[in-house]
Amino acid sequence: MLPFLLKQKLTVGLDIGSHSVKVCEFAEAGKKRKLISLGTAQLPVGAVEDGELRDPEAVGEVIKLLIQNLGIKSKKVAISISGYSVIMKKINLAVMTEEELQHHIQAEAEQYIPFDIDEVYIDFQDLKTNREDDERTDVMLVAAKKEVVNKYMKMLAGIGLQVVVVDVDAFALENSYELSMGQEGNVILVDIGSSKMNINIISGGASVFARDVFLGSRQLTEQIQVKMDVSFEEAEDLKISAQDPGGELSLLAETFAAACAQWILEIKKAIDFYNSNYPEHPLDKMVLSGGGAHIRGIDHYFANESLLDVELFNPFAAAEVDAKKIDPEYLTYIAPEMAISSGLASRKVPF
Ligand SMILES: Nc1ncnc2c1ncn2[C@@H]1O[C@H](COP(=O)(O)OP(=O)(O)OP(=O)(O)O)[C@@H](O)[C@H]1O
Ligand SMILES: [Mg+2]
Repeated sequence: MLPFLLKQKLTVGLDIGSHSVKVCEFAEAGKKRKLISLGTAQLPVGAVEDGELRDPEAVGEVIKLLIQNLGIKSKKVAISISGYSVIMKKINLAVMTEEELQHHIQAEAEQYIPFDIDEVYIDFQDLKTNREDDERTDVMLVAAKKEVVNKYMKMLAGIGLQVVVVDVDAFALENSYELSMGQEGNVILVDIGSSKMNINIISGGASVFARDVFLGSRQLTEQIQVKMDVSFEEAEDLKISAQDPGGELSLLAETFAAACAQWILEIKKAIDFYNSNYPEHPLDKMVLSGGGAHIRGIDHYFANESLLDVELFNPFAAAEVDAKKIDPEYLTYIAPEMAISSGLASRKVPF
């Protein structure tokens, strides 16, 4: 059948983080998306590290149970990858057609990527930055290690799931943002996960800066563990129930302040880069997601430091919600963590 005659269906979004797995499923409701399932399940420490699957059996078991408990029937999933095995690079090339670009990139990719070309999957997107008379355009090049991607696919095939889309965390985040908040404006998206922070600047409807920084909320747990001489689990509990990091200068508050200071430093670097390259399009706001966005007072702290308005990301702002299946209070709490999985769940594939 011709591709455009095939029925397109939404995939199940599966975000496999280093702390937890997030699953999200939408159904089409006219022009809107209706949220029909979502959930998270914690992974054993170390089962996923630096974006790589270290313990496929344990992770497979957790995902299988989560999907069963949520009653998800569809087997077609979209996943995303991040970490050291993915390279995102913006390159500047002569304007070409899609086919020419495909050919050029396959032939020339080696010079842009520090990996052996036979060992990576390559993808690209023409950012179409060329204005009239301009003969060059920016192209976002993505290369991901086959070994790392294949390991995820194999693990998921082992529990009866078929991977139909492999995305990159940064772009799933962007997709989720654009679908819920629109393409207008210039924003910096910051997803603070357990072991990495994802920074993505969207300007004029395209990503102009995307970077993973290997700092995250687990670093806070580890520092609390050392400073307060407690177990990892106790440190995690202390972290989650903590007071405002701007509050009194207890050992805990100090630890929060030090971590947040490190994070904002990286964010400011991205903002400075953006401001010097795009001075005519100032940033409108910062949008926070990931488990780290729950840290009390982090939005005010980032706002004070960056001089930007800071808001928590609600990836379901434009979606209908099946209130019979999803508790609104739970949804409000969990929404920022679901940023990437909801972006993945919005991908359509021919069935
Ligand atoms: N209230 C809270 N305060 C501080 N940290 C929190 C809070 N709630 C959750 N977290 C932390 O957020 C992290 C989990 O966030 P998230 O689910 O976004 O990470 P992940 O996607 O699994 O990790 P990564 O993307 O880095 O691989 C954990 O480190 C968890 O301790
Ligand atoms: Mg994550």
